[in-house]
Amino acid sequence: MVAEQKAFLPGPVLLMGAPGVGKGTQAKELILRWRIPQISTGDLLRANVASRTELGLAAKQLMDSGKLVPDDLVNQMVEARLAMPDTVSGYILDGYPRTLAQAEWLDLRLSLANDAAPLVAVSIAVEYTQLLRRITGRLTCPTCGSIYNIHLQPPLRAGLCDLDGTPLQRRDDDSEAVFAGRMHAYEVQTAPVVRHYQELGRLVVVDGEAEPEVVSARVEAAVHGLREENREH
Ligand code: AP5
Repeated sequence: MVAEQKAFLPGPVLLMGAPGVGKGTQAKELILRWRIPQISTGDLLRANVASRTELGLAAKQLMDSGKLVPDDLVNQMVEARLAMPDTVSGYILDGYPRTLAQAEWLDLRLSLANDAAPLVAVSIAVEYTQLLRRITGRLTCPTCGSIYNIHLQPPLRAGLCDLDGTPLQRRDDDSEAVFAGRMHAYEVQTAPVVRHYQELGRLVVVDGEAEPEVVSARVEAAVHGLREENREH
């Protein structure tokens, strides 16, 4: 079993799903298991906002209102991240691509990289009221990135990270009002990306309404199944 796990090369794995569905939570599990990096465009953009780069200044207002950042800015940011050597055995894309234009850009980039395994995608499904509960209860650690939820996954000591004791923060876009805009962007711009990978036979939908460990097992099984089905491509 250990040898089998070592031999498994995940390649590019895309985690999809509505805001708050658990993409970041699952990505953090999978990067430990597979020893590959998580590439979260939301986290990269928030780091740019925090350090007040030109990109961060352009992105902040859009993010705070639940709108998507322009494709060319996000694609450039992803290009720079994919060029780093830690991506050679695979990576978990979290929150990207989120428009058909981003998906076309990524598909072309991967097709030009001859040695890359085809991208496989898992879309996590959770119903609306549960999503809202996850979003409005979320707290994150600015030091280590750990994710908590005051209703569903509370820290051991209120407001403090279990791992490093840092005071936890709430994201600026985690209000009920902004959530409606984020859901609208998801339904109009990102749902077509789910259909795109489904039509290519590269996407499986998994039920995200269970304990995080149970969802992780479902995601992992889905990736193994997709890799098996797509191995000769
Ligand atoms: P981004 O940061 O990507 O936000 P998102 O897609 O809306 O997703 P979230 O990070 O909110 O949720 P998640 O699915 O990761 O859930 P999590 O694991 O944290 O993007 C933010 C903004 O950046 C966008 O609105 C846009 O402006 C911009 N942006 C980013 N990428 C872009 C792109 N490609 N193009 C253009 N613009 C882009 O979990 C949520 C909560 O639920 C947590 O509290 C967690 O503890 C809890 N939870 C998770 N799993 C479970 C479970 N199984 N059971 C109980 N609770 C759970």
